[in-house]
Formats: sequence, C-alpha cells, structure tokens
Amino acid sequence: MSDLVPLSLTVNGVEVHLECAPAEMLADVLRTRLGLTGTKVACGESECGACTVLVDDLPVLSCSYPAIKAQGRSVLTIEGLAPGGGLHPLQQAFLLHGAVQCGFCIPGQIMTAAALLRRNPDPAPREIREALKDTLCRCAGYPRIERAI
Ligand code: FES
Repeated sequence: MSDLVPLSLTVNGVEVHLECAPAEMLADVLRTRLGLTGTKVACGESECGACTVLVDDLPVLSCSYPAIKAQGRSVLTIEGLAPGGGLHPLQQAFLLHGAVQCGFCIPGQIMTAAALLRRNPDPAPREIREALKDTLCRCAGYPRIERAI
C-alpha cells in the first residue's frame, strides 16, 4: 500500500499536481521532482537559510518545510522571480555590487530580500540586516549584499 498523498500547489505561477510522501520536504519536491535546482540545500537543518523560498509571499526554509504544508499555496523560487528568463532587479543589483562570491547562499539571500522588499520597499540598513540575520553567507559578503538590497 502506498503512503503517498496528493499534493497540488502553484510553483512559479504554474499549477503542479503530484504525489509526495508525508515526510517529504518542499526543497526535495522542488529540486528532485520539479528540477528547480536553484533552491540550494546546505545545512538541511533549518540553520543557514540557503533553501529559502516564498510560500504565499512569506519566506520559509524549504529544507524543513513539509511539502504537504504547501497544499493549495503559491510557491516562488529563484527561477520564478523574474518571469521571462531575464534578471530580477535584485539579481541585477547583486551583480552590480559584486555581492556574489561562491554563490551558494545567493538564491536564499535574494528570496529573503524579495520578501523583505515586498513588505517594505525602502528598508533601512538595520532592517536589511535584521531580515538577513538567519541567512548565512560563509564568504562573509554581507556589506555588499546589504548594499545591493
Ligand atoms: Fe535549509 Fe540550511 S539548507 S536552512
């Protein structure tokens, strides 16, 4: 007997219907089942923020967010941030300010920043630092990341 459960959600504006295991995490569904590997998994333990995506416009740690919790919700990943294959202004700003070093944390940084700017289009530096406090950059590129945002 299968213990898979039906899961319907919207990912980057596209309706998706699949079956998942109750314990399957959203990051695994995005990366493995849907091929959206822009979402990175680093710690896998809710510690680093690399796996951040937006669910109904709120940032979540997809490595520890059960996929079934996204039932009926709208998920946005780095691939869907700038529809049409171009770069989102945040991505352009990260390039302009040299805010990308190894790059592994950048999708999580950008999705976290996108959530911040949706609720606060003109954040003060203190608010940017607060929003990013749980999204770790091992290259310590924080000053450039903050300038880009
Ligand atoms: Fe999800 Fe680190 S990979 S918080």
